[in-house]
Amino acid sequence: MVKKFASLLSADASNYEKVITDLEENGYEGFHFDVMDGHFVKNFAFGPRVIKSLRCHTRLPFQAHLEIKNPGEYIDMFIDAGCDIITIHPQTCDAEKELRYLRAKNIKGSVAIDPDINIEEVFEYLNLIDNIIIMSVYPGFGNQKFIASALEKIKESKEMIIKSKLDISISIDGGVSKETEPDIIKSGCDILIYGSSIFK
Ligand code: DX5
Ligand code: ZN
Repeated sequence: MVKKFASLLSADASNYEKVITDLEENGYEGFHFDVMDGHFVKNFAFGPRVIKSLRCHTRLPFQAHLEIKNPGEYIDMFIDAGCDIITIHPQTCDAEKELRYLRAKNIKGSVAIDPDINIEEVFEYLNLIDNIIIMSVYPGFGNQKFIASALEKIKESKEMIIKSKLDISISIDGGVSKETEPDIIKSGCDILIYGSSIFK
């Protein structure tokens, strides 16, 4: 059974508490927070303080998607904010080192693979990964067009995970909607991250 996470980037920023409560009632099983620093991506979003203030309103998992430069410098802030899964982009850091750190802290380590990055890049340290996010848009903004080549990448990742016998979930982030959902589910994805399609 696939899981549905909600990305709050396009939600009503004046009332995240209500957004979270309503989404939980509607069957979403986790919350995805895009953390943006204006450097790695040309946008700003969620800092640890807002995430921490929402932690008491649900028991569902919180995923911090660190779309920032030098994520390793800030990981502790997001652990302290109550995040259960922390996602880094391998090109922004020493991914192996950060994943090792997350594992030692008992936090799920996740990597996000941009549309033009090959999944093989993470083979070397697959044993340190709990979740892979296949990006089906370029990071930075909500409401972009779904990049269909992500589907092949999901299949490829799934095969690699099965071969490795590791317990790694695959998520997809970007342009997930009622229209794109059937093909995504067919591709073998475990967690669908819905953003602007929820709030339209
Ligand atoms: C993009 C973010 C996504 C975004 C998805 O940088 O990582 O999580 O919220 O939004 P939609 O679903 O609108 O593409
Ligand atoms: Zn995201």
